[in-house]
Amino acid sequence: MKAYLLRTYGPPENLLLSDVPTPTPAAGEVLVRVRATSINPYDWHHMRGEPLAARFTPGGFGKRRPLQPIIGCDLAGVVAATGPGVTLFQPGDEVYALVKHGAYAEFACVREDLLAAKPRRLSFEEAAAYPMAAVTALQAVRDDARLTGGRRLLVNGASSGIGTFAVQLARAAGAEVTGVCGGRNADLVRGLGAATVIDYRTEDFTKVARDFDALLDIAGSPRVTAARRTLRPQGTYVVIGGKAGRWVRPMDHMIGATLIGRFGTRRVVITDTHIGPSSARNLTELAGLTDSGEVTPVIDRAYAFAELPAAMRYVEAGHASGKVVVTVAA
Ligand SMILES: NC(=O)c1ccc[n+]([C@@H]2O[C@H](COP(=O)([O-])OP(=O)(O)OC[C@H]3O[C@@H](n4cnc5c(N)ncnc54)[C@H](OP(=O)(O)O)[C@@H]3O)[C@@H](O)[C@H]2O)c1
Repeated sequence: MKAYLLRTYGPPENLLLSDVPTPTPAAGEVLVRVRATSINPYDWHHMRGEPLAARFTPGGFGKRRPLQPIIGCDLAGVVAATGPGVTLFQPGDEVYALVKHGAYAEFACVREDLLAAKPRRLSFEEAAAYPMAAVTALQAVRDDARLTGGRRLLVNGASSGIGTFAVQLARAAGAEVTGVCGGRNADLVRGLGAATVIDYRTEDFTKVARDFDALLDIAGSPRVTAARRTLRPQGTYVVIGGKAGRWVRPMDHMIGATLIGRFGTRRVVITDTHIGPSSARNLTELAGLTDSGEVTPVIDRAYAFAELPAAMRYVEAGHASGKVVVTVAA
């Protein structure tokens, strides 16, 4: 099969399209013929081996070189074969999954408890837009912000991959959403269900937004103390992303928010996207919301498999509106 191999950390050119043996599913695993994948900031962090702190954390990228030569964490495809003991899936099933690595390949072996049935009304490319971004958005809106009907939610980074899902999920939960995004994406974010939009390029939202029940900080742009002022005294500050950096960023933003969160009445929660049986359950919930028409993916660009390094470069620049997907096999 063809797969992108990452032998050394670095720029997108280090991803080399190569011929490698097709893997054989072990007990409890399913061989998926990958039809589409997508690009997340996590993937280019993995490609660069940055922040360097992520190489040294348990389960991290690998100290000197990538532990996993095939990166990529979103996939949508068709079950090609099953390993011993697999009971939930059979060849021909259309599936999607959030995995730790291995998606930038024509085939991937995936534990069956990570797989969910693909939303029926979506193409493989549209389904591949979901795993990391939509699961993170669902965890943040449902579990971390604990949003219910009538609550007021502020989403900083509403035009991002995660933000475009979060705005829709919050609206589906009955919340009133204000989105912070660049002016060029204002119509997009309104169309997803935001009642109000603040243009981050012309206005500092921490100076004008007040009395929110929760803030989803996806862009990670404000100072923690300023961000908390947008909340009611019992409000929740959900930290999802932060500015990227070589050494520690964005971890410093999360550590700072956790420490400051110990003081005052406003809750601070760091969203930590789980990859496991719970992500498969979340993908099943998202498939239901998608097939009922409450959530729909926003695709900024679609690339061919041969162009995956260019897709990586585009996402790394930080200005995708929604998701960037890659067709692996038409
Ligand atoms: N906590 C977790 O478990 C977890 C899981 C997944 C991802 N993350 C993190 O979450 C962050 C977002 O991921 P993503 O996939 O949604 O990113 P993304 O799609 O690559 O984000 C790009 C978008 O962010 C917008 N943006 C950039 N700066 C902004 C600012 N200051 N204010 C408002 N919007 C701004 C851009 O709009 P313009 O073009 O207008 O600038 C663009 O639409 C990343 O830092 C990622 O590492 C965390």
